[in-house]
Amino acid sequence: MNSESVKSIKPQSIKVGICGFGTVGGGSYKLLQNNGEEITRRVGCAIDVSRIASRSLNSGDVDSAVKVSKDPFDIVNDPEVDIVIETIGGFDPAFEVVRQALANGKHVVTANKALIAERGNELFAVAEENNVTLAFESAVAGGIPIIKALREGLSANKIEWLAGIINGTGNFILTEMAEKQRQFADVLTEAQQLGYAEADPTFDVEGIDAAHKLTIMASIAFGIPLQFDKTYTEGISRITPEDIGFAKQLGYRVKHLGIARRTGSGVEMRVHPTLIPRKQLLARVDGVGNAVLVHGDAVGSTLYNGPGAGADATASSVIADVIDLARQELVGLSEPLLPALGYLSTHDDLEVLPIEEIETEYYLRIPVNDVVGVLAKISSILQDFDISIEAVIQKELDSKTVPIVILTHKALEKKLNLAIAAIEALDDVSGEVVRIRLESFEG
Ligand code: HSE
Repeated sequence: MNSESVKSIKPQSIKVGICGFGTVGGGSYKLLQNNGEEITRRVGCAIDVSRIASRSLNSGDVDSAVKVSKDPFDIVNDPEVDIVIETIGGFDPAFEVVRQALANGKHVVTANKALIAERGNELFAVAEENNVTLAFESAVAGGIPIIKALREGLSANKIEWLAGIINGTGNFILTEMAEKQRQFADVLTEAQQLGYAEADPTFDVEGIDAAHKLTIMASIAFGIPLQFDKTYTEGISRITPEDIGFAKQLGYRVKHLGIARRTGSGVEMRVHPTLIPRKQLLARVDGVGNAVLVHGDAVGSTLYNGPGAGADATASSVIADVIDLARQELVGLSEPLLPALGYLSTHDDLEVLPIEEIETEYYLRIPVNDVVGVLAKISSILQDFDISIEAVIQKELDSKTVPIVILTHKALEKKLNLAIAAIEALDDVSGEVVRIRLESFEG
C-alpha cells in the first residue's frame, strides 16, 4: 500500500469476534489475515478479529492481539465487538449466542443453515427489533453469492423456479460413484477428511442439509416465511450404480437437487435425487461443486456455479457479509437497508404443496420375472392412471428376474403412487419399484 492511499483511509477499525473455530471459523480468520490489506482498501478501514471463542484453541495459535476464550458469550457481551461471526453450528448454544448478540445491538454473520432455516423467523424478528442485521450468505452454496443474487440482483423479477445442486458432499459422492465406480461409504469418508461433510454426515446424505438451504432460497425467491418442516426431503443413500448406469444409457445424469417452483396452486419445495439431461449445464457440475439455476420472468434462466463447501470457499462468503456490515457501520445507517429475506411484505397466502400434489416426469425401475405379457400389464396400469410412457428399456440378465426401466411424461405424484402400488401387486413383479423424479427444465 503506498503512503497516499494509506492517508485516504479512515483510521477506524471494525472489531470482529469469531464464535467457533472449526473449518469455517478458522478459514474466516485466515482469510481476514491473508487479504486484510485488500479488504481495507475496499472498505476504507481495517477489519480486525479482536476475540475468538473456541473450546480447543490456545492463545499461541493465533495473533497475540486476539483475545482467546472458551465461552462465546464473552464475545457477545463485549461492548468492543461490532460484528459477531457464528460458526459453532447446530442450535445449542448457537441460537442463544446469535439471539443475545442481536439483542445486544451487534450485527451477526452466520454460516449456520440449520439455524436460519429452522429458527430464522424468530432471529430475524430480534434483529429487526434491534436495528441490526443477521447475515447468512455462507449458509447456502458455500462460496457462491446466491443470496445476494436472489435478494438483490434478481429483485425486479417474479422468480418462477429454481433448482440447485446444493450439497457438496452429496455431489462429490454421486460424481465419484458415477465416474470411478467407488463405494458410497468410501467416498463419504474422503468427503469428511476434506472438511466438506457436516458433523453428522446423515445431514448430507439424507438431504437435510440441502433442505435447509432450499428452504432459505425459496423464502427469498417467493417472499414466503421460512418453512423447513414443509420441504419434502429425500437423500441419496438408496441410489445404486445400477440406476446411475441406466440413467446414463438414456442420456441422463443422476444429481441430488433442491427444487422450488411457484405453480398456479402454490409452491413446490422438494429435495431428492433427480435425473437431468446430460446436456443440461447442471449435469456437468461435478465433485464438491454447487450450482443453482434460477428462472425469473424478466431475465429468463441464470446459472450460479462454484465451490459449495470447504474452508476457504465458505469463508469467502462469511467475510463478504462482514464487509457489507462494516460498510453499514461506517456509514452509520440507523437501520438495515435490506429486509433479511428480501421482502417487506411477504406472500403469506402462498401455500407449500405436499409432495403428492407435484407434477413431474419419472424414471421407474421395475424388477420383473422374465415372462411374456408383463410389460403389457405394466403399460396398462400406467394408462389407467393417465401416465404416458416416454421410453422403455428392458435388460437381458443371467437370471430369471430382469429390470424394466421406464421414463414417463409428466404425471401427478399421487397418481404415480397409486400406479406403483398396482404394479407392485402384479404376480410377476418381483420386488419394489425404484422411482427417481426427472426434470428436463423446459420452459
Ligand atoms: N456439508 C455441506 C456440503 C457443507 O457438503 O455442502 C456446506 O454447507
